[in-house]
Amino acid sequence: MQGSTKIQIQDVVAPIDRRLYGAFIEQLGRAVYTGIYQPDHPTADSDGFRTDVIDAIKTLNVPLIRYPGGNFLSQYRWEDGIGPKSQRPVRLDLAWRELETNQFGLHEFMRWADKVNAVPNMAVNLGTRGIQAAADLIEYCNFPKGTYLSDLRRQNGAEHPFAIKTWCLGNEMDGPWEIGAKSAGEYAHLANETAKAMRRVDDTLELVACGSSSMDNPTFGNWEETVLDACYDNVDYLSLHRYYGYYNDDDPTELDNFLGKNHDLDDFIKGVVAMCDAVKARKRSTKTINLSFDEWNVWYHSNDADTQVTPWQVGPHLLEDIYNFEDALLIGSLLMTLLRNADRVKIACLAQLVNVIAPIMTDENGGVWRQSIFYPFMQVANYGQGVVLTDHSTSPTYNSREFTDVAYLDTVTTYDAATQTVTVFAENKHQTETLDFELNFGELMIDRLLDATQFYGYDVKADNRDDHMQLQPLPARTDTHHAHTKLQPLSWNVLRFKLRD
Ligand code: AHR
Repeated sequence: MQGSTKIQIQDVVAPIDRRLYGAFIEQLGRAVYTGIYQPDHPTADSDGFRTDVIDAIKTLNVPLIRYPGGNFLSQYRWEDGIGPKSQRPVRLDLAWRELETNQFGLHEFMRWADKVNAVPNMAVNLGTRGIQAAADLIEYCNFPKGTYLSDLRRQNGAEHPFAIKTWCLGNEMDGPWEIGAKSAGEYAHLANETAKAMRRVDDTLELVACGSSSMDNPTFGNWEETVLDACYDNVDYLSLHRYYGYYNDDDPTELDNFLGKNHDLDDFIKGVVAMCDAVKARKRSTKTINLSFDEWNVWYHSNDADTQVTPWQVGPHLLEDIYNFEDALLIGSLLMTLLRNADRVKIACLAQLVNVIAPIMTDENGGVWRQSIFYPFMQVANYGQGVVLTDHSTSPTYNSREFTDVAYLDTVTTYDAATQTVTVFAENKHQTETLDFELNFGELMIDRLLDATQFYGYDVKADNRDDHMQLQPLPARTDTHHAHTKLQPLSWNVLRFKLRD
């Protein structure tokens, strides 16, 4: 089987906003407690943060982290998580039916995010709360000094404003499971009024309105248009959430269909972009609303186990999906789809980051291990820099139960002018055939192949609990204007080239 790509550095889809490689930490399960925060752990620093987990996150190079939820957000009182820890209340978290001790809150998150080199993507509760609590939170975080709430922040140890720029206006407010779920009209009105008040406190904010929490929700479409009709002038982004897996009666051996699910992601993005632009046209606006894909991942492995978890524990084992090799292949493909839509998707958050549907896990022996999905995410987040180039690839295709014309060769190329580096991400979705991959650089001259790796050869249902998965060298030939390699069946591959100046 043969496939090719043509690399044209003038032919650009969009500059890459590095926030595309964001992630998510929710006060849920063991994400915070025994995940990122564990004061009695041997590697804990003076703040109680696990430095072994910090090191693993730094390897992923995550630039932005969404916090504190998620469903947790919709009943959260942010004031519970500030001030002396001994005086913080223990609360019932109705979203996940856990006990929340509030030993980790706003100040702890800000200190921790700084240590992992990420900026926050914070959120205000529009489930059980509203305008006043949101405006108060902005005052507490971003107002310099001289008011009750800004001085309270200073008294709690943060002399300088946190200057948090990006905020979500609630979470999944269309979802019947959400505490305080709303109709589109109710949410649209509340989000707009809240946005207005938040902007009065700080007019530099970037605000994300809730879009649909799934394309399958019956309100999808109507929700987006109603929300944007009301909020267009006061928000900057519309959110999308999507998870993949083998659900309900799906046949778990239907790998060709599973690996085609990036088509669903692409359709979802293009559909929401169309709705944003339809409202823009209707309003005769010059402003463009971009997308924040602030939850995406595979999520299904832990669903049955989660029904057995005893309620009202602190940091229970919830949503602890153990990912296998086919999940890593899908994650690679989803990442490439996000990149191909980088003209409109400016923020995206892998949901989540530690222990809860996460690339990084902590275990009962105090160790840290990396899931299969860690590897494609790490490579794209580290090497997908600069601009995304227009796709000029050729590939044989297949049809699956849900998708047509799925390319066996799924590939995207990025180009970083600062370092004169071209990076090609490429996946072979064929289950048995090797793909001869020809890279044509046209007039461009290759100085050298910096490195080439492949991730392949594992049983699709194998996971990485024993840490046996690793990237391997990918043999490749280059001449001045071409490169050639063979992509193994079911493989994720990355080739990085330095161009001649
Ligand atoms: O990421 C897990 C959950 O998925 C989040 O809390 C919620 O927003 C979504 O339904």
